[in-house]
Amino acid sequence: MTLTLRPLHPLFVAEATGLDLHRPITPDQAAEVHRAMDQYAVLVFPGQSLDDDTQMDFGRALGTLEPTRGVVDAHKHRLKHQEMNDISNLDTDGKLLAADDRRRMFALGNRLWHSDSSFKSTPALYSMLHARVIPPEGGETEFADMRAAWDALPDKEKARVRNFTTWHSLIYSRAQLGFDAYTEEEKKAFAPVQQRLVRRHPGSGRVSLYLSAHIGRVEGMPVPEGMMMIRDLTEHATQPAFTYRHQWKKDDLVVWDNRCTLHRGRAYEDSVYPRDMRRVTLQDVAPTLEQQAA
Ligand code: OGA
Ligand code: MN
Repeated sequence: MTLTLRPLHPLFVAEATGLDLHRPITPDQAAEVHRAMDQYAVLVFPGQSLDDDTQMDFGRALGTLEPTRGVVDAHKHRLKHQEMNDISNLDTDGKLLAADDRRRMFALGNRLWHSDSSFKSTPALYSMLHARVIPPEGGETEFADMRAAWDALPDKEKARVRNFTTWHSLIYSRAQLGFDAYTEEEKKAFAPVQQRLVRRHPGSGRVSLYLSAHIGRVEGMPVPEGMMMIRDLTEHATQPAFTYRHQWKKDDLVVWDNRCTLHRGRAYEDSVYPRDMRRVTLQDVAPTLEQQAA
């Protein structure tokens, strides 16, 4: 064993130590990380002083990187690698984003409970977020366990929701905050995609709710009725017993499985303090509709 795991929550999330991620990992070590991910769904690797290249290398050692980023003004990119998501409040010159910058408004959508890239037909597998600069307070990230949320549903509710599909788009999540300033090109790029509402997690065999702020419609239901159901399920799934709040330290790398967790960022004084977080995202193997039904 190279990886030492210390649970941080009764249901999911563990601290993972014993691996130095700024060196290449072996296939055996990668398999060990996958096994730990299958069990815990969220792993916190503290004290990993990664740069962009070593963070990308760790991603590639675990899977296939997502080729595109789901953001507005995608051409204004601060980081060296196109595939790396800039989860910061910084402009390309490293200064704080202006209060009315549409990238800042758009990024506020990360504070709604979501699963990364659920708006892509093949959505995200793992997200790997690394803390480079953190604010003195606030800016935590919360996670919720969608397998525990599923397990806790009454049988009748499980049977009712099991076979629904939903439509996801970045436009739907941002509309919840009143953001609607898109170019024609962005509107096309953000066209809704269909996903299963309930999935089976291959590594653990467990069933999980697949929720996200990106959902804007449930197939076969009037929009308000479907969205009320999504709201009720999200409220159930994010109750305190199923959630963990991560208080960041510089050089933490947190890896989460988007197939079976939700997450959201918390507020901080983003017009005063820089927060520089960088995310490498792995792609799932296929669209959820092409994966095994739950
Ligand atoms: C993300 C995300 C929340 C945060 O990186 O995908 O949603 O706390 N981050 O920055
Ligand atoms: Mn996210």
